[in-house]
Amino acid sequence: MPQPKFAHESLVTMTEMVLPNDTNTLNNLMGGRLLHWMDICAAISAQKHSNRVVVTASVDNVSFSEPVKLGNIVTMQAKVTRAFNSSMEVNIEVWAEDIPAGTRMSTNRAFYTFVAVDQNGRPIEVPPVTPETDAEKELYASALRRRQLRLVLAGRMKPHDAKELKALFGEMEEE
Ligand SMILES: CC(C)(COP(=O)(O)OP(=O)(O)OC[C@H]1O[C@@H](n2cnc3c(N)ncnc32)[C@H](O)[C@@H]1OP(=O)(O)O)[C@@H](O)C(=O)NCCC(=O)NCCS
Repeated sequence: MPQPKFAHESLVTMTEMVLPNDTNTLNNLMGGRLLHWMDICAAISAQKHSNRVVVTASVDNVSFSEPVKLGNIVTMQAKVTRAFNSSMEVNIEVWAEDIPAGTRMSTNRAFYTFVAVDQNGRPIEVPPVTPETDAEKELYASALRRRQLRLVLAGRMKPHDAKELKALFGEMEEE
């Protein structure tokens, strides 16, 4: 198995300015453009962790609660939370900044899953992640439940086998 790597070794920060070609007719950033930037930032993070070519396997739950305006500066920060066999979960957070107005707001968050592949596009083993901070440890622990949920939804895991996920729902019923 490849040697473990620290979560922070996969940290990637990417910054973009929202230009006219990135916007919809309301002069707000298009969702598809933001997803494209997020995909690139998260893929670089997965590449840093695995030192491999990676492909996007899935994206979880992106909501667009706040419009991002023309001229805003968009900053994305991505980090691998946990690696399994060939797949890695990447947490990405997004902020939009209006520099002249001096405002900055958190706009999006998502979990991307990437799979490392060899020269023939076949999945290949990746290093485990060693979390260090409390936040990294929490994301590492909860990654197992998120993996089970996305694999169940993708029809790749039977709900019966999603043990950590079932345990979570059990805990919620007891509360
Ligand atoms: C992702 C891909 C390599 C998986 O190949 P596969 O033959 O299904 O391989 P496996 O069944 O062995 O799964 C490999 C890993 O992918 C993960 N995976 C597959 N589908 C997934 C999904 N929908 N969500 C999350 N993880 C997924 C599996 O859990 C497994 O992870 P693990 O090795 O850590 O346990 C393949 O489906 C592919 O090439 N997809 C296209 C990727 C692409 O082009 N992305 C850009 C989109 S335009």
